[in-house]
Parts: sequence; structure tokens; C-alpha cells
Amino acid sequence: MYEKSIALLNKAVADEMSAVHQYMYFHFHCEDMGYDKLAGLFMRTAIEEMGHIELCAERILFLEGEVEMVASSPVEKIHDVKAMLEKARAMEQGSVRDYNLWANECSANADAGSRKVFESLVADEERHFSNYDLEVDRIEQFGEKYLALQSLGDGAEAAEGED
Ligand SMILES: [Fe+2]
Ligand SMILES: [Fe+2]
Repeated sequence: MYEKSIALLNKAVADEMSAVHQYMYFHFHCEDMGYDKLAGLFMRTAIEEMGHIELCAERILFLEGEVEMVASSPVEKIHDVKAMLEKARAMEQGSVRDYNLWANECSANADAGSRKVFESLVADEERHFSNYDLEVDRIEQFGEKYLALQSLGDGAEAAEGED
């Protein structure tokens, strides 16, 4: 009876796994380049996406389905910071679109519980989208200067502390 919901929840698990992999990849590279603030944003978002996998998995098990732990797409090896943020922003936009549609599908199949899961995911993905969108805006507004400030962040704060 809930096969359709289980399939949609597993699609979400697959997309969330791809997001965890992609954002952790961006995290490592931002940290390597000294962009600690962005590295932190990617890390925190990846952890939230992991929480989404858990929510979907719990619902799948409640519906007596099997959790398919397979990522939906391979990691894109993007090294340019602005391109990373644009990729992340597009991924969030896609999730918002899909989860809204899937919430409605679950509703149409008389599965309000799964609809609620997707609705709570939509709220988080909209927040993620707006975090990434803000960073893209800042880079467009301030360009290289903004990225340079990111790399100086910790050092400048540490120096202030010494005064
Ligand atoms: Fe998510
Ligand atoms: Fe997200």
C-alpha cells in the first residue's frame, strides 16, 4: 500500500547521500584553501543532510520497507569556490522542487506521515538554499576581496586577541 511512498523516500535518501558527499568534498577543498567560514558552512549543511537521511530511513522502516543506501550521483570535482556555491545552490533548489512534489504525491496516496517528512525537509532545504545564495551574492558583490577576508578570518581575530 505504501510502495510509492517508500520509493520516493528512497529517492530522497539517494539525493541526500549525494549531497553529503558533495558538500564534504567542498568542505575539504575550502579548508585546504584556507576558506574556513565556507568550509564550516559546507560541513554543517552536510551534517543536516545526514539527519535528513535518518528521517527518511526511519519513515521507510516504519512503512516496513528497505532502505537503499545508494547515492544518486557521483561527486562533481569542482575546485572554484563560486562554482561550488552555485552547484550547492542548484542542488538545494532541486531538492525543494522534488520534495514539494513528493509531499503532494504522498498526500494523494493518503500517506500524511510521509508528506510531513517531506514538508519538514522542504523547510530545511529552503534555508540551505538561502545560505548558499547569500554567499554567491557576496562573492558577486565583493569578488576576490571577500574570499581574501575569509582566508584571513582566523588570523586577524587571533591577532586582535593578542592586543
Ligand atoms: Fe536534505
Ligand atoms: Fe539541503
